[in-house]
Amino acid sequence: MSKNILVAYFSQTGNTKKLANMICDAVGGTLQDIGAGAAVDLDAYDTVFVGTPNWAGTVTEPVKKFLSAHDLSGKTVIPFCTHGMGGLQNVASDMAALCPNSKVLQSFAIKGVEVDSAPEKLRAWLDGLGYGALV
Ligand SMILES: Cc1cc2nc3c(=O)[nH]c(=O)nc-3n(C[C@H](O)[C@H](O)[C@H](O)COP(=O)(O)O)c2cc1C
Repeated sequence: MSKNILVAYFSQTGNTKKLANMICDAVGGTLQDIGAGAAVDLDAYDTVFVGTPNWAGTVTEPVKKFLSAHDLSGKTVIPFCTHGMGGLQNVASDMAALCPNSKVLQSFAIKGVEVDSAPEKLRAWLDGLGYGALV
């Protein structure tokens, strides 16, 4: 398992940021806030966790822009999401459609208000993906 992992996220009110930090700590990745829209050099990474809040059932605009502007071909993409009452909705499927040449793994989703209780679920998810034993 490679350790060249980027954890890229957008967060407006901090929930997805908190989750991104937990994932980053768990897998030993590099954290990248993509909210400002700056170009990110992805050459060094073969795995990119991509986090977004659920807005209107789908991926937020900054994350759409990030996925459209960067070539993720051949990379492993792992979606994660925080949400309100709607759940994951179309977030993971819409994200996968934006990176058609990537290997998109099983996503993780949790209510924004429950992020503080995420670590246990997060660990099970990462173990299932094979990223649990990295750090
Ligand atoms: C403009 C907007 C639209 C949203 N639409 C949805 C939605 O369709 N379904 C849902 O479950 N939550 C929705 N939410 C709730 C957010 O996904 C949730 O609060 C999330 O944890 C916010 O993440 P953040 O703190 O990282 O910005 C919406 C929030 C905002 C601000």
